[in-house]
Amino acid sequence: MSGLANKKILLGVTGGIACYKSAVLLRALQSAGAEVRVVMTPAAQAFVTPLTFQALSGHPVYTELLDPAQEAAMDHISLARWADLVMIAPATADFMARVATGQANDLLATLCLATETQIVLAPAMNRQMWLNSATQDNLQRLIQRGYLCWGPDDGAQACGETGPGRMLEPEALCQLVENYFSPGTLQGVKVLITAGATREPIDPVRYVGNRSSGKMGYAVAESMRDLGAEVTLVSGPTALTSPSKITTIQVETAAEMYSSVMAHVDNCDIFIAVAAVADYRPNHIASNKIKKNKEILALELVKNPDILAEVAAKNDPPFTVGFAAETDQVEQYADEKRRRKQLDMIAANRVGSRVGGFESDQNALLLLWQDGREELPMMEKSYLAQRLAERIAKQFHARN
Ligand code: CTP
Repeated sequence: MSGLANKKILLGVTGGIACYKSAVLLRALQSAGAEVRVVMTPAAQAFVTPLTFQALSGHPVYTELLDPAQEAAMDHISLARWADLVMIAPATADFMARVATGQANDLLATLCLATETQIVLAPAMNRQMWLNSATQDNLQRLIQRGYLCWGPDDGAQACGETGPGRMLEPEALCQLVENYFSPGTLQGVKVLITAGATREPIDPVRYVGNRSSGKMGYAVAESMRDLGAEVTLVSGPTALTSPSKITTIQVETAAEMYSSVMAHVDNCDIFIAVAAVADYRPNHIASNKIKKNKEILALELVKNPDILAEVAAKNDPPFTVGFAAETDQVEQYADEKRRRKQLDMIAANRVGSRVGGFESDQNALLLLWQDGREELPMMEKSYLAQRLAERIAKQFHARN
């Protein structure tokens, strides 16, 4: 691998049990061609000694602020300027709290204040600590300031609990770093995306709708744009503002969404159907407001065209990605749907559980394609969309 040739990465290690994985991450980054320097907080040194990272990196490890010997090797301001990327892995709750409040009470926190380089957090902590609103508030503040956050994963934790808080595996982090440095993987690729819910009018003031917020579709559109794609977004009514550098077409009904997609699909390389399209619409739309003078009012519904299935069934279809919302047997039902609709990929999410899904800011996805799968654990929809976009880009190039 040489995807990180000439890239300088400052690896910040803070005090969590996931520290041992950072040694593997260091090796992976180096194998990919990166030059890596390591900074450790005092707490990190309680888990792994600086000597381990020194031996692996072949360079002294920076631990102290204002230590004459270390400052002589590279002073902390030069170190902050040296890096092309600052990667904090693991990032503990305490470290996130300290940088969120702008503290400069150890070398690594000071570097975060002093650098203009992109900082990435790879959080690792107990699930309650991660879910605690204090940590989530700190995370939001950091994201607003431009930090990236990759992970955490969901799964068994060192403390014996199960849930979100595991640091992403070193190989996955290394891959994300490579993707970060080569974002133009969809340069010149045209992507058409549907998002939001559709509204099927009953009369001039009422409609049949659903609870989709459009957040996931918009986040996917932004992530595809960030990979260099030329994106057209066909959106049902949402409370969201049209993303910059994306052509957004506002529609209301499934029929309008269908027409808009069909008008643009021949000119696209990738089609991603994220919209929660109403499966049925009222057969008759009353021209006047329906009065409540009946005890029982029956609405006759007719089926809407399946936009996704029609796109996939075209003669020369684009790379087609669908979504599936399942309450149970997620993998089996989603894979059946993928095969039935002849999709290149399906992104399945479990609905009806406490977290994630419609209206939530977080979600988890299971991605399935013909000969592979990837589980994306519960995380903010914006990060989830980034990882989904990267996977779509990879499979799109693999197919072509
Ligand atoms: N879709 C579409 N047009 C429709 C209905 C759905 O493009 N008229 C797309 C959605 O955007 C989504 C996928 O198809 O990508 C969802 O497929 P669907 O068969 O509706 O699955 P579920 O919503 O999961 O519902 P069910 O399992 O009940 O069929």
